[in-house]
Amino acid sequence: MKTRISLAALITMMLLVTFSCQQEKKSTIDKKWWKEAIVYQIYPRSFSDSDGDGIGDLKGIISKLDYIKSLGVDVVWLNPIYSSPNDDNGYDISDYRAIMKDFGTMEDFDALLKGMHERGIKVVMDVVVNHSSDEHEWFKQSRSSRTNPYRDYYHWWNADKGKPNFRYSLFDINHDAWKYDSLTDAYYLHYFSRKQPDLNWENPKLRQEVYAMMKFWADKGVDGFRLDAFQFAAKDTTFPKFPDGFEKDFMKYYAVGPHLHDYLQEMNKEVFSKYDVMSVAEGAGNSFEDAHNMVDADRSELNMAYAFDGVDIAKPQGYSVNHFKEVFSRWDSAFADKGWLSIFLANHDQARMVSRFGNDQPAFRDLSSKMLSTFIMTMRGTPYYYFGDELGMTNAGFEKIEDYRDMPSLNEYRHQKDIGGDIPKLLEQLKFSCRDNGRTPFQWDTTMNAGFSTGKPWIQVNRNYRTINQAQQEKDPNSCLNYFRKLTALRKSHPELVYGKYALLDKANDKVYAYTREFDGQTVVVLLNFSFTEAETTIPNDLKNATLLLSNYGNTAIPQGKTVTLRPYEAMVLKL
Ligand code: GLC
Repeated sequence: MKTRISLAALITMMLLVTFSCQQEKKSTIDKKWWKEAIVYQIYPRSFSDSDGDGIGDLKGIISKLDYIKSLGVDVVWLNPIYSSPNDDNGYDISDYRAIMKDFGTMEDFDALLKGMHERGIKVVMDVVVNHSSDEHEWFKQSRSSRTNPYRDYYHWWNADKGKPNFRYSLFDINHDAWKYDSLTDAYYLHYFSRKQPDLNWENPKLRQEVYAMMKFWADKGVDGFRLDAFQFAAKDTTFPKFPDGFEKDFMKYYAVGPHLHDYLQEMNKEVFSKYDVMSVAEGAGNSFEDAHNMVDADRSELNMAYAFDGVDIAKPQGYSVNHFKEVFSRWDSAFADKGWLSIFLANHDQARMVSRFGNDQPAFRDLSSKMLSTFIMTMRGTPYYYFGDELGMTNAGFEKIEDYRDMPSLNEYRHQKDIGGDIPKLLEQLKFSCRDNGRTPFQWDTTMNAGFSTGKPWIQVNRNYRTINQAQQEKDPNSCLNYFRKLTALRKSHPELVYGKYALLDKANDKVYAYTREFDGQTVVVLLNFSFTEAETTIPNDLKNATLLLSNYGNTAIPQGKTVTLRPYEAMVLKL
């Protein structure tokens, strides 16, 4: 029998084939393990101490590998674990190929990496190469004479040329980034502390040393790199004068200097392209254009942008939910078609998520913490989740300066003392925003020092460890911890939460953040009440036939219709 196909049917068929090829192409081309991954950030100093010296260590992490696995995360980002005099808790590296004594040995590291890999968890290393420690051999050489072969590994300004133009230091007690060194009658540059001299990326020899060092770790089998403060690495070495007061807006002058993209492309060619590793840099420049230039796949630089606009929203006096929605929506739409983002509300440089973005009062702590975790795990972008947030750990809120350990905060205290500044005001600020709030030891149980250490912890344990701890939450099916596990499982089983298009709903609502995530014909609706009162939201979708995937309240009924009343800090994830 002869089959006759009309022209219209033929065209329709061709269109369908093209469309499904495109769909296919889209789903295969865009899929990457680092997009599907959930990153768990560990601050090793505060996770678990195996030898009783009060400092967390690698063996401590090894002893908790099964716990980490139980969270359902795929990648662990370790804050720096290299040799360091610890002026800035490891962000001042004196040997990039050795392990910090406080943390253990290279054998411990190898065992840690093996243990992670055996459990299917990848490891991302923190690479601190905008600067090194002043105790690094390169700097010791560099400092020793003006003609030393390592002189150009750092930025020196000979005093015969007069004083260099002012550069602002983020960490220095006087905020002056040039430190005079009488040994060679010259100034060296340090954007961070005096013990963190900036490396000279304009020197190709230095760059090759860094790539070789990164390959050393990649050859060991690490799975990714987080580049610390890298947006500051490239500099105009003529050090022109910046306008007076530039320090109030220093990012504009420091971020993405000349040749930064050349260095990233070179690093990609020399290191990233040779391994199956993920790459992310701290900071994303000053504009979407900067961020795209760092991460668009066709440029071969980095995998994803890590921008601060989101975490910068929280202020001691509170923040506007609409502002929060606006910032995250704006970033999402700028990356809707190209590039990839990181999603996070905390890290080791921030105070605790629940204290900044949620409500750490006992009545709302768990609810708001779970709600914020729901946000992180249902947005587009790779989630970076900070250790301890899975328990709803809160700010320590130290009262006395003696309780703080953070070098820049202590320097600022001394600076304010010197200039007769407002000390009570500074202490108030530190209580809310000092990064030590997020660095107190992990709260494992109700035993001494929250089970973190048998010795005196390097920083005080949060007083609330008897109420908030892992042992107790392990037993409670409704704990933050067990809710977090449900969230990671949910993200893993719903590709729409990874790849799905994001659309903001009920835009003007100043209490509820509502959005959909849609992929391959599947739609998930997320409803989040960011307030401590009941709040109503009306969305375009009728929810009466929806399936409830997750809720942070025990007894949640499926909403009937398009208008939903959410209880305080309620979070609901539904499938249409
Ligand atoms: C980055 C790190 C921070 C460190 C600074 C200097 O911002 O995240 O912890 O103090 O760089 O290395």
